[in-house]
Amino acid sequence: MLTQLEMSAVRQGAATDDQLTQRKKLAEQLVIEESRHEAVEEMYFWPAVRQHLPNGDELADTALGQEQEGKEVLAKLDKLDAGDPEFEKLLAEFIRAGREHIDYEESHVWPALRVALTAQQAQELGGKLEAAKKTAPTRPHPHTPASPGALKTAGPVAAAADKARDAMTNRGTD
Ligand SMILES: [Fe+2]
Ligand SMILES: [Fe+2]
Repeated sequence: MLTQLEMSAVRQGAATDDQLTQRKKLAEQLVIEESRHEAVEEMYFWPAVRQHLPNGDELADTALGQEQEGKEVLAKLDKLDAGDPEFEKLLAEFIRAGREHIDYEESHVWPALRVALTAQQAQELGGKLEAAKKTAPTRPHPHTPASPGALKTAGPVAAAADKARDAMTNRGTD
């Protein structure tokens, strides 16, 4: 999605209304997918990292800081039309930070966790992440604490409100 957004960047002032609408839809999809992705990590993935890795707290705290930064950018982006002068700037900022975050998880966290978990534990964790994604919030919620407890109680309420808003506005549909 990041590459797709990068490749389809439009020049401010030179885009048609149709291009701007498409651009906004794509950005919305990014916000939805990213919000779900990080919410389920916060509920299950980072707690597993803290539990199973000796430097788990440090790894999780760094990653959660990156995720918070990402949410703040996406929360601003979500409020803007693609024709807004800030839109492409925020999107580019998110793409850069998002890549850095993905790289951090894939090169610092995954290899260590892969060694620390048994095959069964890894499978259980994967199952929880998959299942939680179905009810996860579709908006960034930068002001909700990223603690697993808070997310498991406040998360579903926020998620239900997000989905109601999505349905009313046809957000996330083609
Ligand atoms: Fe993450
Ligand atoms: Fe991730």
